[in-house]
Amino acid sequence: MKVCVIGSGGREHALAWRLSISPSVTKVYAIPGSAAMSDCAELVGIDWQQSNHLIRFLKDNHIDLVVVGPEAPLVAGLADALNAAGIPVFGPSKAAAQLEGSKVFAKDLMKKYNIPTAAYGVFHKVDEAKEFISQTGAPIVVKADGLAAGKGVVVAMTIDEANAAVEDMLSGNRFGEAGSTVVIEEFMEGEEASLLAFVDGKTVVPMIASQDHKRIFDGDKGPNTGGMGTYAPAPVLTDALRDEAMKTILEPMVAAMEKEGMPYVGCLYAGLMITPQGPKVVEFNARFGDPETQVVLPLLDSDLGQVMMACATGTLTADMVKWKDSSAACVILASKGYPETSSKGDVIHGDIKQHDTTIVFHSGTKLVGEEYVTNGGRVLGVVGLGKDLRTALDRAYGRIEHIDFEGMQYRTDIGAKAFK
Ligand code: AMP
Ligand code: GLY
Repeated sequence: MKVCVIGSGGREHALAWRLSISPSVTKVYAIPGSAAMSDCAELVGIDWQQSNHLIRFLKDNHIDLVVVGPEAPLVAGLADALNAAGIPVFGPSKAAAQLEGSKVFAKDLMKKYNIPTAAYGVFHKVDEAKEFISQTGAPIVVKADGLAAGKGVVVAMTIDEANAAVEDMLSGNRFGEAGSTVVIEEFMEGEEASLLAFVDGKTVVPMIASQDHKRIFDGDKGPNTGGMGTYAPAPVLTDALRDEAMKTILEPMVAAMEKEGMPYVGCLYAGLMITPQGPKVVEFNARFGDPETQVVLPLLDSDLGQVMMACATGTLTADMVKWKDSSAACVILASKGYPETSSKGDVIHGDIKQHDTTIVFHSGTKLVGEEYVTNGGRVLGVVGLGKDLRTALDRAYGRIEHIDFEGMQYRTDIGAKAFK
């Protein structure tokens, strides 16, 4: 079958690469993709926002399945438009994508169906929000309601910090419209893990658990980023805890979505906090994680194209999804100034080709002449594979010694928590 991946980042590079080596897949297209993705996909310069143009291309080229990478097209309703044109899509409808697009929607649904998550309040007025903060005390978490590119969350250690975040978000000077509603949450103590699952509307099949590193600096210091590195499997989510998360979180949420008349299709991403009371939801995402995808998909031992098609057509079964008994680690190389700003156009030196046990996925690069240059905050995701996590990490970091660009920054402690 022919598959089209929408998007152009490191996650989409990993999706296109994994699809390209799936036996059921004869051809992968990427819209718009990136120069680096031409190693596994044919690039098509169409804007997904021009859906008539996109649908004509998909029909003319007999594309069997569309895989939507990022959240923005899903929240905007791209899956609905394609489904209406009779094209199978791996990705949720606009209604179902609200699980990521609106924190209020997600929290209210979790409350209605008793899915474990932090206690919360929803506020539109600064005074009422501050009143709630003074009653609850710090630490406390303040979140802008809409999509804010991973930057709409402030984990406030003091009441002053929380009040400042509320003013910032509700007066609309930092997050614009996305900030006109805030969710204020109880602070949850524990270690985080990402549990992604394949979903076909009814059936939920978990992927291998991974762990992201959200802060920019070693030791989880500094501001939040989109994610500075991942590894899988993550031992913090033991088999018993994963089964508990499936029973108390993912299965009830997918059943709830069906009951609410918005069945969920695609990858459901549960960001979990492993608290002393068990796993609780930090957030849901309506798509694969970035850079979780870069470590989860290399460990898949099944035909990804077939699994995704089964999700899109409501025929998923647990026995379709098998995992390798090995580990993967991804270290993100970010550009100077990230996450506040990002430097563009710095030439990337070194070996960024794919080898047997290391893969370099491109998050933000551009080909200028014969050379790749930086073109965004997160630049490359260097993935090491191995029989265990130590080997995978050594391979990823070993590879990084041969890559360099001006201002390159990365964390040196990816995976360290797994050895605690
Ligand atoms: P989110 O965008 O909702 O995933 O939040 C970003 C990060 O903020 C998470 O990965 C957590 O590290 C942290 N965070 C969010 N909500 C909470 C919470 N209720 N308690 C503790 N930490 C949180
Ligand atoms: N790595 C976090 C995310 O994809 O949202």
